[in-house]
Amino acid sequence: MFRKIFALTPSDRLKQLPPYLFAEIDRRKRECLAKGKDLIDLGVGDPDLPTPGFIIDALTEAVRDPKNHRYALDEGMPAFRESIQRWFKKRFGVDLDKDKEILPLIGSKEGIAHLPLAVLNPGDVCLIPDPGYPPYRSGTLFAGGIPYFMPLLEDNGFLPDFSAVDAKALKKAKILYLNYPNNPTAAVASKAFFTKAVDFAYAHRLLIVQDASYSEISFDGYEAPSILEIPDAKGVAIEFHSLSKTYNMTGWRVGFAVGHRDAISLLSKVKTNIDSGIFQAIQLAGKRALDEGKKAYEENLKIYQRRRDLLVDGLKKLGWEVRCPQATFYCWIPVPPGSTSTEFAMKCLDQMNLVVTPGNGFGANGEGYFRISLTVPENRIQEALRRIEALHQHPHTARS
Ligand SMILES: Cc1ncc(COP(=O)(O)O)c(C=O)c1O
Repeated sequence: MFRKIFALTPSDRLKQLPPYLFAEIDRRKRECLAKGKDLIDLGVGDPDLPTPGFIIDALTEAVRDPKNHRYALDEGMPAFRESIQRWFKKRFGVDLDKDKEILPLIGSKEGIAHLPLAVLNPGDVCLIPDPGYPPYRSGTLFAGGIPYFMPLLEDNGFLPDFSAVDAKALKKAKILYLNYPNNPTAAVASKAFFTKAVDFAYAHRLLIVQDASYSEISFDGYEAPSILEIPDAKGVAIEFHSLSKTYNMTGWRVGFAVGHRDAISLLSKVKTNIDSGIFQAIQLAGKRALDEGKKAYEENLKIYQRRRDLLVDGLKKLGWEVRCPQATFYCWIPVPPGSTSTEFAMKCLDQMNLVVTPGNGFGANGEGYFRISLTVPENRIQEALRRIEALHQHPHTARS
């Protein structure tokens, strides 16, 4: 006879996490799919395009070499770090010390979420954008830190207002999270804003954690700056980069952190105790992507730009107020009057078989918005627009 499994209760840390607001949408989405409905998923921030062939070739070559089958070095292969160094210099004009200012990661998410473990003590505060990417909050809570949310408001270009941060919270604050180009609002930050952030960080002894995972997804000739372009930024800032969105490599898990050398070395110390580095074959494929990938992602950008124009123009024709994003593959759109974000997302699912992401899932200040991701082909965007138009004419429309 088997002994009965004993029930485990979640740790206090896990219990602190807010309820997962997308659970009901996920459940209904699965229900629709099981019923065979023609669902258009505009919810996921995961490129539908394949990883370019030359990156796959680099991986397959590297996989066949037994040298790459063993534990990787925790601090990443020197060849990969050199590639990151070259890419960074070429792209942003910033020199990095490849041994002290660069750390390869198993995707930027793990670095972003582990960083608070390296620098926070229980009770320290993290300044976090709201709406924002959820790991800023969960990483803070797992490290015993206290999140302090900075509203990102449309009137302020979805940038945080540093002068509005509560003085008491600021005294206890250690980390300032920023994310530009921004998920979910698609906002971008200028060098003038980053200069302000660096000054603020020096004045209040904060470590800036700038999440640049969408830095390469931009349109109309716009190129997002790195915060490390600001003089002396390396003294207060660590920046996270990702190969996921740039090269359609979300499943491969590869990214890197650059900047503040203590932050890099402390994060590396945390990771040495948790993981054992990135599979070397993936690092070599990542190296090939950084060395030779510009053309491939420029092709990607043309595809996203066509999708963006189709969606934005289509919605505008239907009377929607939509800002045209300069970067990221998201559109952040106010919900029609009379609906909450969740109600509207449910309506989209139930009445149009469209999955959109309700803004409140990214924080209280995301209420009143929804996010559409441009990760479906043009014909599906056209079909989505047709469904929205059809619903518009219905007496119980989203706008009624
Ligand atoms: C704002 C932001 N940062 C970081 C990530 C994580 O990217 P990855 O871990 O794949 O590098 C994502 C993924 O969606 C994101 O939206």
